[in-house]
Amino acid sequence: MAEQTLKVQKIKNGIVIDHIPCGMALKVLKILGIQGDIGSTLTLAMHVKSKNGLKDIVKIEDRNLDERELDKIALIAPTATVNVIKDYEVVRKHKVVVPKVVKGIVRCMNPRCITNQREPVEPEFTTISTEPIVIKCKYCGREMDSEDIVENII
Ligand code: CTP
Ligand code: ZN
Repeated sequence: MAEQTLKVQKIKNGIVIDHIPCGMALKVLKILGIQGDIGSTLTLAMHVKSKNGLKDIVKIEDRNLDERELDKIALIAPTATVNVIKDYEVVRKHKVVVPKVVKGIVRCMNPRCITNQREPVEPEFTTISTEPIVIKCKYCGREMDSEDIVENII
């Protein structure tokens, strides 16, 4: 029965970020720069049962994601699936891809890194592990995990 199975309403147009690792939805909002009212409907579901265990879901109406935002999501929610919804139908579905090179979207957490000096060089990292996520600064070698990444997203 619908009353017993419906947890989160379908959306008409927008994006559904599904299969977010359980507990990471608020961090996804943070890296998308969403802190308060964005002027469109946003639905958040956390700790939801799915085929492969527990997940979080974020649905944002009338919104798109650009490449930069997709890369950011991949770094903190590598299992996420992004669904584009048009007139209630899923018109595009793809899994996020963890970028091999992370350029200009995360600040190095080492204050002495050349990328944090007076004439900064654009921060650049290589991904050295995807499960769990670890990226390594090209300039100073500092390694950062997903918590560090969330705190230093640009
Ligand atoms: N969804 C939505 N509004 C719509 C269509 C879909 O919010 N109008 C959501 C669904 O609730 C689901 C996600 O978008 O969380 C993907 O939808 P769908 O592909 O229909 O679901 P599944 O087949 O279960 O997806 P997957 O195989 O990726 O788990
Ligand atoms: Zn560095």
